[in-house]
Amino acid sequence: MSLKTLQNREQKLLCPTYERYPLEITRGWGTRLYAPDGFQYTDLLAGIAVCVLGHCHPEISAVLREQGETLIHVSNLFYQEPQLKLARRLLDGSGLDRVFFCNSGAEANEAALKIARRYKQTICGQEAFEIITLEGSFHGRTLATLTATGQAKVQEGFAPLPAGFRTVPFADIKALEAALSSQTAAVLLEVIQGEGGVRELPGEYLEQVQSLCRRQGCLFMIDEIQTGLGRTGKLWAHQHFNLQPDVLTTAKGLGNGLPLGAMLTTEDVSRAFSAGSHGSTFGGGPLVCAVGEKVLEIIERDDLARRAQETGRQAVERFCTLQARYPEMIADIRGQGLMLGIELQVPAKNIWRQLLNQGFICNVVQETTLRLLPPLIITAQELFDFADALDQILAKERDAVHA
Ligand SMILES: Cc1ncc(COP(=O)(O)O)c(C=O)c1O
Repeated sequence: MSLKTLQNREQKLLCPTYERYPLEITRGWGTRLYAPDGFQYTDLLAGIAVCVLGHCHPEISAVLREQGETLIHVSNLFYQEPQLKLARRLLDGSGLDRVFFCNSGAEANEAALKIARRYKQTICGQEAFEIITLEGSFHGRTLATLTATGQAKVQEGFAPLPAGFRTVPFADIKALEAALSSQTAAVLLEVIQGEGGVRELPGEYLEQVQSLCRRQGCLFMIDEIQTGLGRTGKLWAHQHFNLQPDVLTTAKGLGNGLPLGAMLTTEDVSRAFSAGSHGSTFGGGPLVCAVGEKVLEIIERDDLARRAQETGRQAVERFCTLQARYPEMIADIRGQGLMLGIELQVPAKNIWRQLLNQGFICNVVQETTLRLLPPLIITAQELFDFADALDQILAKERDAVHA
């Protein structure tokens, strides 16, 4: 079926929620994706920070085969071992005590929002319900998580939004302090805003937020859905600083492509949930959990966080050389490890399209930022090849402006 036929069929069959790349992908292997004609792309996006181990990792495929022939789904009415094995590994790496499993990032954040309110109301006996989030944040697309999201475009047309959410300016500790009150149940933030344009929160700000939350008695919650699982050079991005969240959410890379999310919390906060207060039919099924456990085992065994840090450092060095060469086109290089943003002074779409034509997949956030979220197994050479392609494109663009 040609791309044109796929596009025509899709237009008639699907809700028009996605602006797709003009590209069909039929196969993936490691850091590479392939079009039907065999054209090879270097995948610098990994399904938006999902395929941390690359595509069709042989050990993941082996787990899928083995668990797929043993038990795929059984619901949360029964005991099963894969869920507990994954929980053990997740908790060991996080300093937290309890997990709730679900299927996506939005659901992990829903669980976080729900447990925060219920903790304050049923355990602390306080009428606290307000959730404070940051401008530019992204927390998902369910009604509650899009309300928590600090971007108006995500909320457009969905009024009335659920009550009890408040957004404060990015990295402004005074504004956050002023917003906290006896009604605050929790503060929820990303250590590096991904959809918001790869914007890092300063460590000092994060530590101050934690202190303010402790003082106010509200929960300090970190959304590690995009930053987590080794991407920024530590298993969790908050571990770069002196932070211990009360609630941590994860998804994306946890299933390396299978739908799997989790909300991690403390023993104390977990008491807010009781049988029937929250749940999921699919959440934490044996197949996805067996995969999730293998993903964590490989990240740890192959030291992928450290590798991400080193590969990212080399890439940033190269990108900074480009910035020095094209100061009128590159405004900033941002990010940590393998969560990188190249902030352009020109609309990024045109540059992105040319990169795609040359076989490099990345994406554009906030109109001017090229975002890279490659598999953690990517090599520095692959990122240098991307930098060389970008170099040529920027040279051509500059020449065109000056012609
Ligand atoms: C930081 C963050 N939180 C939440 C989400 C929502 O995750 P999902 O699309 O799996 O619901 C995303 C997705 O991009 C994200 O980046």
